[in-house]
Amino acid sequence: MSATTAHAGAAPAAKDGRFEPVILAFTCNWCSYRAADLAGTARMKYPPNVRLVRLMCSGRVDPAFVMRAFADADAVILTGCWPADCHYRIQNVKALRRFILLRRVLESMGIEPQRFQRFYASAAEGQQLAAEFDRIVEEVRALGPLDWAGRHAAFVPSATPPGAGVGEARAAAEARAAAPPPAERELAEVTA
Ligand code: FES
Repeated sequence: MSATTAHAGAAPAAKDGRFEPVILAFTCNWCSYRAADLAGTARMKYPPNVRLVRLMCSGRVDPAFVMRAFADADAVILTGCWPADCHYRIQNVKALRRFILLRRVLESMGIEPQRFQRFYASAAEGQQLAAEFDRIVEEVRALGPLDWAGRHAAFVPSATPPGAGVGEARAAAEARAAAPPPAERELAEVTA
């Protein structure tokens, strides 16, 4: 299944009336996808809420894949090889850059950061991957459904007066510069 045609499918059956999020995880063939495979063969359970999309490298994740995924899912995860382990040299660093950019775009649309997360997982880290999936499912469950269509409609630029939000954007940029979020700090380290 290609990322562009992936469909997250129906949510798992709700238990006790609780919300069951649908989460799409882009995985790298060489590490996180194998970690998920390892988790399965070792009978380490992770929630059925997470649907995997296998790519050859996290660097293959196009921003359009992520935006399309949000049309069907309540959250999106990017996973890939640890720095220096990417089979295609520095493509995972490029993926990190794209993640930072996309997260800012999503935040500006009012999408909570818990709905777009990333982490590394080597092929041997099935247990860690399952634990991360568990954590993210719980965080997204607490947020409730995404309502992408409603939020997307509210973000239509023509509905925004020219110049609106400039002050907020500047304040957010200054706050980020003063205390860089973890992904920004990590990018500065791996590219230093
Ligand atoms: Fe796994 Fe690049 S090959 S992230």
